[in-house]
Amino acid sequence: MHKSSDLYSIAVQCRENAYAPYSKFKVGACILSAKGNVFAGCNVENASFPCGTCAEAGAISAMIAAGEKIIREILIVADTARILPCGNCLQKIAEFADENTLIYSADINGNIKTFKLSELLPQNFSAKDF
Ligand code: THU
Repeated sequence: MHKSSDLYSIAVQCRENAYAPYSKFKVGACILSAKGNVFAGCNVENASFPCGTCAEAGAISAMIAAGEKIIREILIVADTARILPCGNCLQKIAEFADENTLIYSADINGNIKTFKLSELLPQNFSAKDF
């Protein structure tokens, strides 16, 4: 079973591969799934700026491609400042989260802060709403 420290080192490693020539802001993410597997992602920017994708989106795509659907934990790492998922990514995380899902916000110096998804996105829109 993977631990939070594994998520951190995998996300840091994946962040190295981020394609961020425009913002120069590299982001890495790593999911621990309900089955105990890890899935990493990084941001992938585009000359047509809105086409760029966040690190969280990459990690979620990898998890879904592998046939898993529940995020137990997700760690996001940027540079010197801890990073929280953007609003769009919180909604993407919520789609595959449950009430116990944790979000770790990290920097490359090893500082990590833990949040519940419900703290960052309370009362979110979901499939229950339609
Ligand atoms: N970014 C992420 O990858 N995740 C977030 O939660 C916030 C922002 C990326 C998108 C873009 O490539 C760069 O950070 C600057 O916004």
